[in-house]
Amino acid sequence: MRLDGKVAVITGGGSGIGAATARTFAREGARVVIADIDEKSGDAVAEEIAAAGGTVDFRPCDASRPEEIEALIAFAVDTHGTLDVLHNNHVSFESGRVGDLSLDGFRRSLDASLTAYWYAIKCALVPMVAQGRGSIVNTASVSGLAGDYGLGAYNVLKAGIVNLSRVTGIEYARKGVRCNAVCPGPIGTPPIERLHDAAPQIWTDIREAIPMGRYGLAQEIANVVLFLASDESSFVTGSHVVADGGLHAHSGMPPIGGLGPDF
Ligand SMILES: NC(=O)c1ccc[n+]([C@@H]2O[C@H](COP(=O)([O-])OP(=O)(O)OC[C@H]3O[C@@H](n4cnc5c(N)ncnc54)[C@H](O)[C@@H]3O)[C@@H](O)[C@H]2O)c1
Repeated sequence: MRLDGKVAVITGGGSGIGAATARTFAREGARVVIADIDEKSGDAVAEEIAAAGGTVDFRPCDASRPEEIEALIAFAVDTHGTLDVLHNNHVSFESGRVGDLSLDGFRRSLDASLTAYWYAIKCALVPMVAQGRGSIVNTASVSGLAGDYGLGAYNVLKAGIVNLSRVTGIEYARKGVRCNAVCPGPIGTPPIERLHDAAPQIWTDIREAIPMGRYGLAQEIANVVLFLASDESSFVTGSHVVADGGLHAHSGMPPIGGLGPDF
């Protein structure tokens, strides 16, 4: 098993990519602590993992609150005596054009989903540096590598996560702690399922913009997170892995002379 006996904390582990990562980590032998603001979904994922024989705890946690992050990391260390993996993964943000975002909404977006990642890293570094090993994996996005219409706050916070991963990676490289980001493209998780129901044409347009012609699966991102969390990526730090069906490789130019993705 690729994470045998390792202790892993996952924020936003009650749904989508975080839940897929929690299941994957547990299957690979990790002792998993799921943190989520949504108690019902976090509990349900934990119960499912436990029923399958995994070692798991669910901690209700609003990761935008520093004291709750402190309690989360303390719980993992107190319960299991160590912390090997932190997967920062939750998100909440305000949508809208740059000129239309509210000051409060912009600040809350960065606070809840960028500052919170940094604070969880700061807390996790204490046990990780003390034991001379650890792996931190942050969920960024292809939206952290380029701009999207109407997602300004999200673009800024995800770009911040990419560079937070770089600076953490270089600063702690000689302490045995690695830090990387995963940059998913559009993945078929609950927010995208809701988009499918609320705006089916936009859902189809996004799918068609992906060179592979489909949405990714949460499991396909969990596979990347597993690689980055495990010792298989032992020489990878300060980096980001794009998993997006080819979306970010496209310049955005429409096909010329009918030479599109279908042939
Ligand atoms: N789905 C995509 O297309 C996609 C693409 C790129 C990046 N991502 C990123 O992947 C991550 C997971 O997204 P998802 O699609 O699985 O979403 P999701 O909504 O299925 O899961 C997110 C989870 O985070 C939890 N959460 C939100 N705010 C929280 C807080 N303050 N404290 C603790 N938990 C909180 C939610 O309750 C939810 O369970 C996010 O960082 C998102 O930006 C998703």
